[in-house]
Order: sequence, then structure tokens, then C-alpha cells
Amino acid sequence: MRQSGEGDPTSGAEEAARAGEAERSEGRGRRRGVSEELAANMRQGWADTERHDIEPLPQAAHTARRRAALSARFPGERLVIPAGNLLVRANDTHHPFRACSDYVYLTGDQTEDAVLVLEPGEDGGHRSTAYLLPRSDREDGEFWLSACGELWDGRRAGLTENERLLGLPCADVRNLAAALAEATGPVRVLRGHDAGIEKALRDKVTAATDEELRVFLSEMRRVKDAFEIGELRKAVDSTVRGFEDVVKVLDKAGATSERYVEGTFFLRARVEGNDVGYSTIAAAGPHATTLHWIRNDGDVRPGDLLLLDAGVETHSLYTADVTRTLPVSGTFSPLQRTVYDAVHDAQQAGIAAVRPGARFRDFHEAAQRVLAERLLAWGLLGERTLEQVLELGLQRRWTLHGTGHMLGLDVHDCAAARTETYADGVLEPGVVLTVEPGLYFQADDLTVPEEYRGIGIRIEDDILVTEDGNENLSAALPRRSDEVESWMAALRA
Ligand code: GLY
Ligand code: MN
Ligand code: MN
Repeated sequence: MRQSGEGDPTSGAEEAARAGEAERSEGRGRRRGVSEELAANMRQGWADTERHDIEPLPQAAHTARRRAALSARFPGERLVIPAGNLLVRANDTHHPFRACSDYVYLTGDQTEDAVLVLEPGEDGGHRSTAYLLPRSDREDGEFWLSACGELWDGRRAGLTENERLLGLPCADVRNLAAALAEATGPVRVLRGHDAGIEKALRDKVTAATDEELRVFLSEMRRVKDAFEIGELRKAVDSTVRGFEDVVKVLDKAGATSERYVEGTFFLRARVEGNDVGYSTIAAAGPHATTLHWIRNDGDVRPGDLLLLDAGVETHSLYTADVTRTLPVSGTFSPLQRTVYDAVHDAQQAGIAAVRPGARFRDFHEAAQRVLAERLLAWGLLGERTLEQVLELGLQRRWTLHGTGHMLGLDVHDCAAARTETYADGVLEPGVVLTVEPGLYFQADDLTVPEEYRGIGIRIEDDILVTEDGNENLSAALPRRSDEVESWMAALRA
């Protein structure tokens, strides 16, 4: 599978066959210089490590229900959802692999090259199979002579082991592209993750029908089930500890750079979770006004603010997305406090607007209204009325972005959902979203007094919509300016 998806425009079946041949040739290539004695020696003397104690993943019951919902939406059609392939960094080194979120959502599995196929049955339902790389063959030397041999990459769960783990039938993925190329009947594929699989299916699918699959999967993920909410709680709790770690070492960050902040948080993410859920934004001083500041190579100076936007991704791949803006010295200056308190008040108004039955837009509009009021009060928007400002959107020069988004397996979760179900949609229990207003005065903004320039503030929390309102999952991190100060002082004492 690692060779597929490149090269000439042959048919999918030929392509798949060529991929297999390339794999075998590589084995032969490595085999050059290997004596028959060594090859024979490597074939034997290995213990049977088959595991018989495997329990199903905790999310297995949930993934079965999700596949059933997907099956019901597309009766009679073959559905192909790939996990994705390794991305080459250079030569034989790769970027860390992160499986496609929709594949993870439907299987719980996270391995590269895997593919979930829902095969339509006579009864109108589907039979699901996870196609995976099997254990490496010892007999033909694949385990030590092939690019994806277990000796190099580590032991994989075998197909039988995976059947127990995932709770669904598993099969060898290496023949799948060829089989899909030969198969007949309506089919849809989730695009953008496995070029080899897409190539095998290219004469059988259309962009429009594939897009319907992508949209449906995104919309399925809007309302989180009990397992997902539990994982998001874990992600947030680890993230809270990561923020505490950063506060404890802010003095050292001052001696180095924003990278110290990023690295400190990353340690927590790797020790307690899988990774960070997105590139950490560690933005000190005027860098806080750059929304996607991920270079993180600036100084952390006393007197400046540090905007830290970071989230731990759990082992099951759910991520938190939290921002705090902290005074590096431990105390806000009067102007920093004024701007911070405005953002905090806006966030309070936004969070108060999150409840079942409210429109997704409501919390954004509530937060924007507070920010526009303050900007008017500070004389930054001339003599206009509040309604004029909001009508013209003039506050947006400094508020810049939307006030929040769905959160889950992806930091910007459910991104393929239709406008009517997302931006124009209505909140219901189980939705998890961020509320994250901000004010950003660019260092070169001549329309604001000089003392405002270079101040950037965002406060971001992860909010679960409950039956009767909401729960702030990240409430353990203080938000009010005076509480932030005392929390920092206690951690640094
Ligand atoms: N960290 C990305 C965001 O807040 O949306
Ligand atoms: Mn966010
Ligand atoms: Mn964020």
C-alpha cells in the first residue's frame, strides 16, 4: 500500500498488482547480500506471540451503532472509508501518522493503510470489514526485509486479534485495491486519505455522491455520545495540567523563548495523551495578535502577555482546545486588565447563550455585542451607535474571528457539515463547542492609541451542551483576571 497511488494511469487492478510487485521486489532487493544461511536462520526461532487475552476497545459498542447509522443512510451501496497512508518526510522517514477521524469514529482503529468497507447485503443492511495489514510473515522474510516489516516498525495486532479489539471482521488490506477495482455496483469513497484506493475506484464514483458521504459523516459527529464526552473530559483535564506546567516554568521561558512554553505543554500531551490536537500557539507580546502564531520563536518578556492556545489529544484522538492569556510577570497592567476584562465579559455572555434550542450563532452574537460596546466606550469606533457598529461589523477589525466551533476528534470538528446543520443549526444536548472571543490590536494599527498596539487577548473554553444549559469542561482553569493572577501566584510560590 505504501507504493500505491503514484505513477502511470493504469487501471486500479493493475495498479494494485504493481504495488504488490513493488513490495515483493523491495523484499528481493533487501535480500541481495543476505546469505541463504542468514535467511534460513531468520525464519526460525521465534516464539508464538499471539495474544488470547484481548478485550474489545471501550468504544466498540459505540462504533457498531455508528456504522449502523451510516448503513441506514446509504442502503445498497458499498462504502469505503480509508484511514490514510504514511506521509513521506524524506526518503525512508515519515511524518507521524494520524488516522482519518471518520475512520477512527467508525472503527476505533488508528493504523495506517487500513480501510473500512461497508458491503451491502441482501437484507438492505451492510457487512462491515476492517481491511488491515496483517502480521509480518516470518517464512518469506517480510518481517525484516520489507519496508513495513514488524522488525522495523514494531509488532502489529494480527487480524484475529483486531477482530476482538474492534468487534468487527478483519481482512488483509493488501488485496483490497485490486478487489475494489473489479467489484461492481454503486460505491462511494471518503476522498482525500488514500490515493491508491481512490485510483482503484476512480471510474466507479462521482465527486457529488462522495461528497454526500463526507457530509453525512461530519454531521453524524455533531452530537457526542457518552464515550466521546468522557474522552473530551480527559483531554481537557490533561490540558489543564499542561497549562499549570507552563505557569510553573514561565520564568525559564523568559530566559529562552516561546518554544519553552510549547515544549513544556507538549511534554504533558505526549506523556498523558497521544499528541497535541493541533499546533500549539505560544504567542507572547505582539505575537498574540497573530491568530495562527505557531513559529513560537519569540521572547517571553516580563510585562508582556502570553497567549497560550493548546490542547492535549487523548489516546483515542479526542482533543481539547483551550486558550488563556496570562501576564508573564503575574499581574496585568491597568490597560491589559481593561482589555482582558472586556474579553472575559464577552465570553461570559457567549457561554450564557449556549443551551439546547439556541441557535449556533447566538453565542457569537452575544459575545460580539459585548466587545462592540467596549470598543465604543473606549472611543475606538467614533460616534456611531452600537446597532450601527454591529450592522456594519466594524468591531471585526479587532475581533477578527468567529467566537467558536465544534470540538471532538478534530479541533475544528464536523467541518464538512452543511450550513443548515452547523452555522445555521440549533444546539442540542451532546454538542461540544468552544467559546473563544478575542481582541487583537496589531502592533502597526494606527487607528488605535499607541498603548493598545501589540495587545492580543483570547479566552477559550470547551463547552458541553447539557439538557438544561451547558457545562464548561475547562472550568478548572481560572478565567477572571484576579483569579488568573492568584492562580499563577499559587503555582509559582
Ligand atoms: N486552536 C484553534 C482554535 O482555537 O480554533
Ligand atoms: Mn478554537
Ligand atoms: Mn484554540
